[in-house]
Amino acid sequence: MRVLKIGGSVITDKSKRRTPRPDAMARLALEMAGRAGELVLVHGAGSCGHDSAARYGISEGLSAGAETGLFVTHKEVARLCEMLCASLQDAGIPALPLHPLDLAVTADKRISSFNTLPVKACLERGVLPVLHGDVTFDTEQGAAILSGDQLVVHLALELRASDVGLGTEVDGVLGPDGGVIRNITPDMLPQLRSLLEGSAHVDVTGGMLGKVEELCRLARQGVSSTVFNASVDGNVRSFLENQPLGTHIHGDERHG
Ligand code: IPE
Repeated sequence: MRVLKIGGSVITDKSKRRTPRPDAMARLALEMAGRAGELVLVHGAGSCGHDSAARYGISEGLSAGAETGLFVTHKEVARLCEMLCASLQDAGIPALPLHPLDLAVTADKRISSFNTLPVKACLERGVLPVLHGDVTFDTEQGAAILSGDQLVVHLALELRASDVGLGTEVDGVLGPDGGVIRNITPDMLPQLRSLLEGSAHVDVTGGMLGKVEELCRLARQGVSSTVFNASVDGNVRSFLENQPLGTHIHGDERHG
């Protein structure tokens, strides 16, 4: 079983507020055909959530009146999830939306409890569960934003995934020369922190560095991952067919 995240920048236009990309969703759905039962899909919010999350300051907690922000942000990303599920259904994939707001609680922005039973039930029944970055109730700060990246790592460990894919809008983790860094091991993290810059768009959950940090955490526990460009036709299919792609993040002991 594998966990695949499709970044919000792939399925929305991040330069325009609340703008899903139905064409990208339809393409991705076709590339995932036949994978239900062996895949957990997570997607990001892109322009359908990040702006509202930032406007209401949700990642810093629940200030007075911010309940409206929870509603607005959740609604935007939940709608995006429903659109993606509809595209998957159109491609013949039995997909079902599962919302982390209902399943997860965070403590200081990290998942402290998560009900994986609905995810497992989907897999057992040959259904593709579709989750997403979401707002959460947070025991320390009232509310928080749970990124799809953190969610992917949590699910991969809980469900003992064989590996993880992170489909973004870039070809992998890019070095200072703009070239793809083919292999990353957790011991490279300090040096990568100074190299990786933030995302060009509003991103309340940390950009590429946040992703690499999450994936190094996963690699330390023995689950490797691939960061690749899911905006390129055929790349999701290639990932699902185990073809080499993008940046491979793995434990210190493995190379390749
Ligand atoms: C963000 O999820 C969730 C919200 C802002 C509600 P992600 O952090 O996983 O989204 P992308 O992939 O960066 O757009």
